[in-house]
Amino acid sequence: MAHFLRKLHSLLSLIVFFFLFLFLAPPFASRVASLSTLSISETSNQTLVCALIKPPGRRPFLNCTSFPAGIRIPVNPNASFAGVVGGDGFLCGLRGGSLSPTSVLGCWRFSAANGTNVRYKRIYKGPPVTELDSGDAHVCSLANGTSRLECWQWPGWDRTRVPDDWSSVAVGGDYACGLMGTGKIACFGDNARVVHNWPNGSFRAVAAGSGYACAISWDNTNSLECWGDGAAKIEPPQGDFVSVALGENRSCALGSNSRVKCWGQSNFSLPEHLTDAYFVAIKAKRRVFCGVLASNYSLCCWGNEHFDSMPGSMVFDNVLPGPCQSQCPCGPLPGYGILCEQGYVCLPCKASAPVVHPPSPGPAPPPVRSRGLDGKLVVFLVVGCVGSASLLSLFGFLLFRYCKGRVCRVHDSGRIEETSSPDQTRPPPPQPRPLEKRLSHLVSMDSHLEEFPLQVLARVTNGFAQEFKIGTGSFGSVYRATLDDGREVAIKRAETSTAASPLHLGGGGGPSARRQTEDIDRAFLNELESLSRLNHKNLVKLCGFCEDGNELILVYEYMHNGSLHDHLHRIPESPLDSWAARLRVALDAARGIEYLHVYATPPVIHRDIKSSNILLNKSWTAKVSDFGLSLMCPEDDNSHLSLHAAGTIGYVDPEYYRLQHLTSKSDVYSFGVVLLELLSGYKAIHNNETGVPRNVVDFVIPYILQDEIHRVLDRKVLPPNPFEIEAVRYAGYLAADCVSLEGKDRPSITEIVYSLERALAACSARPLLSRSSTESSTS
Ligand SMILES: *[C@@H]1O[C@H](CO)[C@@H](O)[C@H](O)[C@H]1NC(C)=O
Ligand SMILES: *[C@@H]1O[C@H](CO)[C@@H](O)[C@H](O)[C@H]1NC(C)=O
Ligand SMILES: *[C@@H]1O[C@H](CO)[C@@H](O)[C@H](O)[C@H]1NC(C)=O
Ligand SMILES: *[C@@H]1O[C@H](CO)[C@@H](O)[C@H](O)[C@H]1NC(C)=O
Ligand SMILES: *[C@@H]1O[C@H](CO)[C@@H](O)[C@H](O)[C@H]1NC(C)=O
Ligand SMILES: *[C@@H]1O[C@H](CO)[C@@H](O)[C@H](O)[C@H]1NC(C)=O
Ligand SMILES: *[C@@H]1O[C@H](CO)[C@@H](O)[C@H](O)[C@H]1NC(C)=O
Repeated sequence: MAHFLRKLHSLLSLIVFFFLFLFLAPPFASRVASLSTLSISETSNQTLVCALIKPPGRRPFLNCTSFPAGIRIPVNPNASFAGVVGGDGFLCGLRGGSLSPTSVLGCWRFSAANGTNVRYKRIYKGPPVTELDSGDAHVCSLANGTSRLECWQWPGWDRTRVPDDWSSVAVGGDYACGLMGTGKIACFGDNARVVHNWPNGSFRAVAAGSGYACAISWDNTNSLECWGDGAAKIEPPQGDFVSVALGENRSCALGSNSRVKCWGQSNFSLPEHLTDAYFVAIKAKRRVFCGVLASNYSLCCWGNEHFDSMPGSMVFDNVLPGPCQSQCPCGPLPGYGILCEQGYVCLPCKASAPVVHPPSPGPAPPPVRSRGLDGKLVVFLVVGCVGSASLLSLFGFLLFRYCKGRVCRVHDSGRIEETSSPDQTRPPPPQPRPLEKRLSHLVSMDSHLEEFPLQVLARVTNGFAQEFKIGTGSFGSVYRATLDDGREVAIKRAETSTAASPLHLGGGGGPSARRQTEDIDRAFLNELESLSRLNHKNLVKLCGFCEDGNELILVYEYMHNGSLHDHLHRIPESPLDSWAARLRVALDAARGIEYLHVYATPPVIHRDIKSSNILLNKSWTAKVSDFGLSLMCPEDDNSHLSLHAAGTIGYVDPEYYRLQHLTSKSDVYSFGVVLLELLSGYKAIHNNETGVPRNVVDFVIPYILQDEIHRVLDRKVLPPNPFEIEAVRYAGYLAADCVSLEGKDRPSITEIVYSLERALAACSARPLLSRSSTESSTS
């Protein structure tokens, strides 16, 4: 079984690396980001228009106004945005687009009944978003340089069921379409007429309306092609277009001559007073259309009675006509110098202009491929978890048999562990157990797992004397000692108990007892085998063991600087009292866990991640300890013990607690709690000002979600400087994701490692957009 799994793993890793290789080379890296700087949101009786405004000599800011008045979005006037999208009853703002190392996407929800009752929620924090669009309800994005689509506010959205080669995205009423890397179209969602009828060919842009979609063809004509509900009834105009905005049964398109043409139900057309105007950008939502005038970048809207009754009056002046980009393949817009502090607003690419990406001559990809990179990773992880789950159930079964009828010990961290103990009344084993044979085989096979003679361990600890004892761990007492060869080690000696030794059951020599003994031996051996295989610089190394009659002793490398828990909660002045040092500890620990989840064969779920299990060596490298031992827990559904079997109060994944369903995401939850501890300095469970016990998750997460993490940061650490605050916020959001109630909403440990790497980099390096990032970060 294990062998088979290992084979499967190497196969899957190969597949994963193959796909990674494929996707790390994006087909059209030079593509310009398409973020909108305009948004239109609707409620049943109001329209909210928002735009990024760039007055001369000031930084761009987001302004919103509703028709009729009433909706008030509480936007910080100092916050800088890269893009904005809206839909029915919501508005989302993107902070930090393609020019900044991270993006934050937050949404405000409002209702028709009470426009001042606006709720804010951050829905994304991660790699820079370069493509963003929203429909009536859904929001989708693409991160910089990736072809992976991410959607929100879309129940049932499943990334593994869409293609993974996106280069742009357009979200409609209940569907989304996009261009693949090759310029082909793909759509998905509930609108059957759209998602089953998209045209073949290569396209340069695609737009989605309430019921139908249009695309601009790649060839020299730049002509429009539309499909979906009612699209056949109303032919799009002929012409040469650069962009198109679709509402509900009515549409407008921006020509390469900067003129706008509108068409649709009831002979919809551009209002008279605008027919001579030149535009640089247009946007639509249901009945309402807005455009930015080329002459002075003022925003005008049309399409419903409010706007049509105010011809000539502009909604906003000084609108940023497009997102700021670091480079423009088809040249910047005239006057760009005053628009972006760094970078440019780009001219749309036309057929005659330099080509962004040529259509691929190769065969088109099938419209909906089975699974992408992510799907593979999911499979990989699932197989991994199945692997360890089967291992777990094996141990569980064996130990359940052993535990039946005797008392299992629940140790201080809440885990159940087996201990061996001297037992004077126990008769000697009836015959030599195969354990010894396999042990010696194991030792001879494995170079870094050593079997220590009991005498040696007893000698270096002066007979396990009190003065060598450094603590009482989950396993029993822990001693510090220096071996004869100079190695400093921590020696964990199983606690003496009055129960019989677990390795030798029942005292009887009967055949069934013997078989049980062998089972337990095998479990112990498997445990050691899997532990000895785990070798990573962020895992505390198991040097060896001692199994001598009644003694069961494990020997680990010694960690000079103790546990993270002590540095956070006990030691008054610790070298870990800087944000960079704390993030580095978090990253180290995450890498250790990543090794357990992803690279160990079979994968290991730690089940007891907590700050006291993260240890620091001489050079302050953090290492995860106590891994793997949790595999030895019995899984007994109806016993009280099983409730505590998976970790420590305050760190236990509530989903696991509730469903008794173990996945690697349970470790992610516990890691999130550790991250909150690192940021806030509060223990997982602590007393509030009035002495009432409080959970760090319940207390800190609301502040993080409101972008107010600075109010709960650990006061032992100096307040973060402008570079650090970005990193600290980023880590806060990561922690919030890690402690999501449902495992499926939590990031994988690999994503966590990646995020922490970014956070740490932001902490120590000046961000790309130094000025605006610094200013926005203090807002
Ligand atoms: C936002 O726009 C409204 C309407 O155009 C305007 O009255 C208001 O002054 C603007 N806000 C700022 C901060 O410029
Ligand atoms: C919009 O409609 C809601 C009820 O649907 C009403 O309470 C509210 O006052 C209306 N708002 C305006 C600005 O008319
Ligand atoms: C709207 O919501 C705000 C904040 O929740 C509340 O103070 C106000 O009374 C509400 N107004 C109406 C008309 O319900
Ligand atoms: C975005 O991706 C491009 C190409 O992959 C890369 O050169 C650029 O540095 C990325 N920008 C950011 C902010 O990550
Ligand atoms: C758009 O057309 C569809 C069917 O063609 C119709 O059901 C819907 O009411 C129309 N929407 C508007 C705003 O007229
Ligand atoms: C911008 O141009 C439009 C159309 O020419 C005009 O109506 C508007 O007043 C101008 N806005 C400013 C601020 O000059
Ligand atoms: C915006 O920035 C100004 C000057 O930097 C500051 O005085 C003001 O308090 C800030 N506003 C908010 C809401 O943070």
